[in-house]
Amino acid sequence: MGLEKIRIGMIGAGAIGNVHMEVFSHIEGAEIAAVTDVYLPLAQQRAQEHGIKKVHVSPQALLEDDQIDAVIIGVPNKFHAELAIAALQQGKHLLLEKPMAINAEEARLIVEAAKASGKILMMSHQMRWTPLSRAVKAMIDNGDLGHIYNAKAGWLRKKGIPGWGSWFTRMEQSGGGPLIDIGVHMLDLSQYLMGSPKPISVYGSTYSEFGPQRRGIGSWGTPDWNGFYDVEDLASALIKMDNGATLSLEVSWAAHAAGLPEAPFIYLMGTKGGISIVGKQATFETYEGDEVITKEIEPQEGDDERYLMARHFVACIREGKEPITSGLSGYTNNRILDAIYESSRTGDAIKLAW
Ligand SMILES: NC(=O)c1ccc[n+]([C@@H]2O[C@H](COP(=O)([O-])OP(=O)(O)OC[C@H]3O[C@@H](n4cnc5c(N)ncnc54)[C@H](O)[C@@H]3O)[C@@H](O)[C@H]2O)c1
Repeated sequence: MGLEKIRIGMIGAGAIGNVHMEVFSHIEGAEIAAVTDVYLPLAQQRAQEHGIKKVHVSPQALLEDDQIDAVIIGVPNKFHAELAIAALQQGKHLLLEKPMAINAEEARLIVEAAKASGKILMMSHQMRWTPLSRAVKAMIDNGDLGHIYNAKAGWLRKKGIPGWGSWFTRMEQSGGGPLIDIGVHMLDLSQYLMGSPKPISVYGSTYSEFGPQRRGIGSWGTPDWNGFYDVEDLASALIKMDNGATLSLEVSWAAHAAGLPEAPFIYLMGTKGGISIVGKQATFETYEGDEVITKEIEPQEGDDERYLMARHFVACIREGKEPITSGLSGYTNNRILDAIYESSRTGDAIKLAW
């Protein structure tokens, strides 16, 4: 019963596609059975490197392959919606890279396609599975923080614009800069740790101070010097939740941010205790009598987050269960991102109705 390997098709053989192909080659009960990329030689090269039997000439050909049960989509953000909807309509389970789509309307259409298909839709937010995220979540579930009423999250790269001029820095293809790229990870993780309250109001600003001048460029991604830069390089926002909590978010690809960590961070403030996560270190703090006491949090044991995420995808398919990084979480993230961009344009706080 259902114990045959789940055969996965990889759409997109770039940086993240390569990571998924490597990870899934170690996952029991699943295999990457086919790969495709608009740049076919890259798909062929990856197929050789990872021992993948089939290379399809297009996403359409891969989706029409009835030997394929599930797909992973790892292509520029602009193409997420059309490929995700096509995959679900072809009856494939789907692991979709972040951000879900370039805007909330496209994300909503993906969620609807998943509902209509009855297939598994899972977002690729591996940060929920890091050893520290799991340890922190266990403490929160144990009630150690009480009610989390305020959080501060961010990721401030100081000189980290990826692939200047490539799809990453073109609004039409990416939907935005660091906010939609790395901010979406921090939004996702902090809401998850806060207990997934509904965002109801968003106020924010975005800035583009370095990218247009070709400054603040990082060492990853492939630049395209014939390309251009029309996205933000820093975003700052305040999000109010329906349970009264607030979340502030600051992200950048390039910024003068003296003294602030470059690593991703989340500070959670609760009625019984607080936790800070900065890079690979987490600290718990509470009152003991009149004293403030702190304790380092040990990461949980277990595999790397990407392996745990891959196994969760396989388990959700086998057991027909809702992934913890569900379609709804992807859609919620996209609604917040849209609201931050809109607030920045209009100067108003944006209310979100659910
Ligand atoms: N979860 C994470 O930590 C993480 C990390 C990196 C990237 N990502 C996400 O993964 C996606 C891809 O990013 P990347 O860094 O791999 O980019 P990339 O540019 O390295 O690779 C994208 C690949 O997609 C191919 N492609 C473009 N359009 C296509 C189409 N219509 N059909 C098939 N192939 C197509 C390109 O030829 C390229 O090989 C983005 O959405 C990004 O946000 C997620």
